[in-house]
Amino acid sequence: MLFIALFVSFFFYSAGVYTSGTALIDAPSASDSVHRGQALFRENNCWACHQIYGLGGYMGPDLTNIVINPDLGPDYARLFIEEGTDRMPNFELNTREVDDIIAYLEHAGAAGNYNPKKGKVTWYGTVEYDRE
Ligand code: HEC
Repeated sequence: MLFIALFVSFFFYSAGVYTSGTALIDAPSASDSVHRGQALFRENNCWACHQIYGLGGYMGPDLTNIVINPDLGPDYARLFIEEGTDRMPNFELNTREVDDIIAYLEHAGAAGNYNPKKGKVTWYGTVEYDRE
């Protein structure tokens, strides 16, 4: 009898786990421009030197929250992407391509935060952030 009860609860629990969605509840939807920007970010190897959500190369800074940061913002990012620096190449991208990359960086910033060190660990082990 116990075995049957366990089997039945296992069955319903599994059905629940496999059918409940895994999508982020408040994730912003990505426009075509965001998708193009992500592809450009990959094709131009921005990831070789930069990180998004802390993943990538470490020659340049993490770019997750550059565009949504009110002290930096899209114009600041545009300047670097269009001009390059001594250490960052100028990729000769056209205005639309730069717009797409900025849309991608804006989307990345709206979907998550980096630096994780600013998060607070709760007593039950998750990390919480103050979202701007
Ligand atoms: C060869 C390494 C390298 C590559 C590749 C590279 N960057 Fe950079 N980037 C840097 C460095 C280093 C900096 C920091 C400024 C400096 O020291 O010159 C930087 C700065 C930036 C900044 C300003 C960030 C801040 O916090 O000040 C943005 C935005 C940026 N890069 C975007 C991009 C994009 C978009 C691409 C791809 C199209 C790219 N970078 C490719 C090295 C690189």
